Amino acid sequence: MDLERLLTDRLAPAFETVAGVPVDPVVRRSQRADFQSDAALALARRLGRPPRAIAAEVLDRARIGDLCAAAEVSGPGFINLTVADSALGGLLSALAADPRLGVPPAAEPETVVVDYSAPNVAKEMHVGHLRSTVIGDAAARLLEWLGHRVIRANHLGDWGTPFGMLIEHLVDLGEAEAAQELSMGDLDAFYKAARAKFDADEAFQERSRHRVVALQGGDEATLRLWRLLVEQSERYFLTVYDLLDVTLTEGDFRGESSYNGLLAPVVDDLDRLGLLRCSDGAACVFPPGSVGRDGEPLPLIVRKSDGGYGYPATDLAAIRHRTGTLGATRLLYVVGLPQQRHFEMVYAAAAQAGWLVPPARAEHVGFGSILGPDGRMLRSRAGGSVKLVALLEEAVARATALARQRNPELGEAEAAEVGRAVGIGAVKYADLSSDRHKDYVLDWERMLSLDGNTAPYLQYAYSRIRSIFRRAGEAARPDAGISLAEPAERALAVELLGFGGVVAEVERSLEFHHLASYLHRLAAAFSAFYERCPVLRADGPVRESRLVLCDLTARVLRQGLHLLGIRTPERL
Ligand code: ARG
Repeated sequence: MDLERLLTDRLAPAFETVAGVPVDPVVRRSQRADFQSDAALALARRLGRPPRAIAAEVLDRARIGDLCAAAEVSGPGFINLTVADSALGGLLSALAADPRLGVPPAAEPETVVVDYSAPNVAKEMHVGHLRSTVIGDAAARLLEWLGHRVIRANHLGDWGTPFGMLIEHLVDLGEAEAAQELSMGDLDAFYKAARAKFDADEAFQERSRHRVVALQGGDEATLRLWRLLVEQSERYFLTVYDLLDVTLTEGDFRGESSYNGLLAPVVDDLDRLGLLRCSDGAACVFPPGSVGRDGEPLPLIVRKSDGGYGYPATDLAAIRHRTGTLGATRLLYVVGLPQQRHFEMVYAAAAQAGWLVPPARAEHVGFGSILGPDGRMLRSRAGGSVKLVALLEEAVARATALARQRNPELGEAEAAEVGRAVGIGAVKYADLSSDRHKDYVLDWERMLSLDGNTAPYLQYAYSRIRSIFRRAGEAARPDAGISLAEPAERALAVELLGFGGVVAEVERSLEFHHLASYLHRLAAAFSAFYERCPVLRADGPVRESRLVLCDLTARVLRQGLHLLGIRTPERL
């Protein structure tokens, strides 16, 4: 159990007695003592009593004698708590024996659908898809580790009018030639060539339009060509996922096309429920709560005036499928913030239709953009959008060069292995360590630096601990007694006991920068400890105790980074 939770649970009954209603004690880490609660301040007005008096009475009633060495009222009415070394030692021993490192499995496991990555067929994955892929994968990993049933849904853009011209271009090139071009991963060139022909050549345009009709009509020959395009793209995306250490597999592709058969029934049912209105020939829902600048309700177009269904209808069908057929109660959409309005409207419409009702709920896990060094949208030298693969290859090349420089003894194979783990880790960590609601600047120097809140810093801390054990020639004994005489040992112990609290917080918020900051604090606490407290040169029980601290730090770092999808090489 994590320390914050433990203290919260002990203070809560005392607060409740004093206040007469349940109160969250709001226990937080503090500079003054180990932890601080400021809940008495918030209660003062309601109870009409001075906050210091409230805090004092809470302390009188709280049963914390076994946990705290000191508990006092400070300032205007804070409660400062200093945990007893004996209690820390006991909790740490329990942590050392716990394979889950203080993170209990979810009390009520749910079925969670994580909709993420979702690139578009026959289009290059760009850096925007990086954020979705990296954040979504971390969410899937973390929720799965907590015991939830996670369904990864890669909502591939594999349907719609562009497929007319793409298929005709494929026909022109010949299947073998097209397959070759696509398998090279040059999806953008293929798309652009099709587009150029479409814009310049009227006969081609005409053929493309017929193709769309044939595709939507289920023409077998057309479907076969369409499948060829989809398969080539999927194969390519899988190589990117592999390079990126992302857990998405072939079985997770649930493209827009897979909802085709569900679209007409969705629209029919919306109609039956009286939710449809016609606007400029299109069938629309006007979900409550969404209005435009002029104050007029905004339409969600579920069937276009030409009879075709679009993006919103597909998302409505997907929600109905996910809650109804898959039985999911938590739906996550890891998609950029520009689509926020779309999702608000889709969720509201689905709720109205009865397809998204408690306990089921949907959350838009939105994110900002990746910016270039100039603070503008990241662009390639030629001015186009940056290909994800190019970015990843650059990261690996830079990290490999740095690894060789730092450690000339590394063999070729190991340098390549380290370069990959560090380069990819750095890219993912730069993303996950920044508040996802904000834009962030892609800064090679910073993200590959061995100092600061970076993947290499954490990977380095991990490899350092592993090297201690290589030199020690023995593993830590989990049942060794813990002694925390040095302040740096104590500080490290307190950090180690915070893993459970952070994971629980991220399970709710899916804000991975909290987990990243925690790991960074932990690695920094380890660094301070290792500078002041000799491990291998210590003797007897002190050495044993310090080995346990080292081992726990390595295990938490490794598990934490693993949840973020980042590798931990044994040596850097
Ligand atoms: N394919 C879309 C894009 O590239 C993202 C799809 C997100 N998922 C969803 N269920 N709408 O922008």
